[in-house]
Amino acid sequence: MSDRPKLLFLGSLMPVIEDSLEAGFEILRDDGTNLDALIERHGAEIRGIVTRGRRPTDAALIARLPALELIANFGVGYDTVDAVAAAKHGVIVTNTPDVLNDEMGDFTVGLLLATIRTLPAAERFLRAGKWLHDAFPLGNSLRGRRIGIAGMGRIGQVIARRLSGFDLSISYHSRNKVSHLDYPHFPSLVELAANVDVLIVVLPGGPATRHAVNAEVLAALGPDGVLINVARGTVVDEAALIDALGSRKILAAGLDVFEDEPRVPAALLACDNAVLVPHVGTATHHTRGLMADLLIRNVRAWFGGEGPITPVAETPAPGRRAPQTDSSISKQ
Ligand code: 8YV
Repeated sequence: MSDRPKLLFLGSLMPVIEDSLEAGFEILRDDGTNLDALIERHGAEIRGIVTRGRRPTDAALIARLPALELIANFGVGYDTVDAVAAAKHGVIVTNTPDVLNDEMGDFTVGLLLATIRTLPAAERFLRAGKWLHDAFPLGNSLRGRRIGIAGMGRIGQVIARRLSGFDLSISYHSRNKVSHLDYPHFPSLVELAANVDVLIVVLPGGPATRHAVNAEVLAALGPDGVLINVARGTVVDEAALIDALGSRKILAAGLDVFEDEPRVPAALLACDNAVLVPHVGTATHHTRGLMADLLIRNVRAWFGGEGPITPVAETPAPGRRAPQTDSSISKQ
């Protein structure tokens, strides 16, 4: 029997994570069918969970693992980990903040332009040979649009900085005003939506923000409004969005995230005014490599007795005060 700490890998993770950790740890892989069997056999000795959040690490799972010390989440958003239950059991949760901010800033600007300038449709037009017969029709412009950012945490601020070079007005919604920012702040999301032409959603996922972008917010955004969601699918009421896109209550949407990934409703696929991509905001070798490295360092630091590097707000490093956070920022 090995005396290396046992880690439960939930779902498939980047090979580099497993390759780096297997020398120091015994890795137990959940393949989607064997979790109960793994817990029955090793549950009393599992000291860490490594997860990319595809399956929930909920209170019930945490309660089944009495030796659990650490849940290392691959990703900044940890809405599929019950961090409050973890805190109650004295379990530390870590995520991968900051290393992905620039990638998300770049990606969001790209998705915004692709959506407003209908780049995917223009490319399909060319590939279908239609250019030989006709010019691609004139379309919408980003010019003159007022940008609203919902969730002004670290990623929201990078997006705002990127867009500040575009000569457009920028305002934002977050529960509390961010003191060092001069952009106009709206305490209400519906008021922000009513005052902008583009609504970029970077709010954290989880119960507190579920369906925050609802029919009322979409109506306030209006028939010339564009919605961009790079946060979590749960933040947007997808049925209300499908209705708004289909009946042209809003102009268009660019979505990287969906309520029930990887399933995307047929009614959304049928919307020709939506640009839909499969949760690829951070999906580059560069940034996923940085995220993997931070996760590995968190696991090694914790089991090496140095404490976690990037614990989440609900489970601060033992002996330290919880960092001050704006809850609308925790996605970042
Ligand atoms: C995912 C993300 O973590 O960081 C986040 O919150 O949404 C992404 O980077 C990534 O898809 C891994 O599953």
